[in-house]
Amino acid sequence: MFQQSRMPEHMSQDRLSKTATLDAVKAGPTLTHVAIIMDGNGRWAGQRDLPRWEGHRAGMVAVREVIEGAASAGIAHLTLYAFSEENWSRSPVEVAALMTLLEEYVKKEREKLADRGIRVTVFGDIDRLPAGARGAIDQLENTTAEGEGLQVHLAISYGSKSEIVAAARTLAKKCQAGELAPEDITQELFAGELLTGDWPDPDLLIRTSGEQRISNFLLWQLAYAEIFVTDTLWPDFTREHLFGALLDYRNRDRRFGLVDA
Ligand code: FPP
Repeated sequence: MFQQSRMPEHMSQDRLSKTATLDAVKAGPTLTHVAIIMDGNGRWAGQRDLPRWEGHRAGMVAVREVIEGAASAGIAHLTLYAFSEENWSRSPVEVAALMTLLEEYVKKEREKLADRGIRVTVFGDIDRLPAGARGAIDQLENTTAEGEGLQVHLAISYGSKSEIVAAARTLAKKCQAGELAPEDITQELFAGELLTGDWPDPDLLIRTSGEQRISNFLLWQLAYAEIFVTDTLWPDFTREHLFGALLDYRNRDRRFGLVDA
């Protein structure tokens, strides 16, 4: 299932200009929801003898690049895994640097995002974040709240197993209170209790840096997503890499457990 993706012909940056690549994406059907596990910032920094936070700073530039690329390609939802529940176990210095970068990102980007009609929402256990980062998230969500174009969802302090347990707990409490019968719990009802609410499930999951894992990301929502793994480290990931993944997706045969007609 988790295959190392080959670079298809149409992705070759030597052969195609940026415009041609976007043209190729726009020539076909648009995909609704792309989710990305942004991995490899630390290795990118290590390769340059830089501290890890420099890799995260470079990763922030890639975030801007991919959001613009997704908007230009007509994607409706883009979900980015920015900070996992497990990332809290990293060194306090690295965690603090990531929180500071988040504030920096919001300061630099929120007006530009709003101007482009891009809406950003954050999901995860936000209460664990320091006050400065929580304030930045409020500003980001408020400034972009009117956006009707690309919907960007940032997973911060997020863990999918915790999300699923919280949903189960909510439904159990409703049953205990007599508001819900256990036999009335359906997939739709359960999905509605997840942090992703009514967003469509991702069609495509991209993971950078060659790792072939889901890492506690959207375990329920990715049930039928196509997976694209690239060796490119996140700070080196450009909109052209995104377009390449979108074109690769077109060659996939999505059967949702069914057989060909
Ligand atoms: C994984 O690389 C990346 C992260 C844990 C953080 C992702 C953060 C950014 C892309 C920048 C900030 C983003 C926003 C939205 C402000 P890693 O550190 O695990 O890399 P490694 O596996 O090479 O060590």
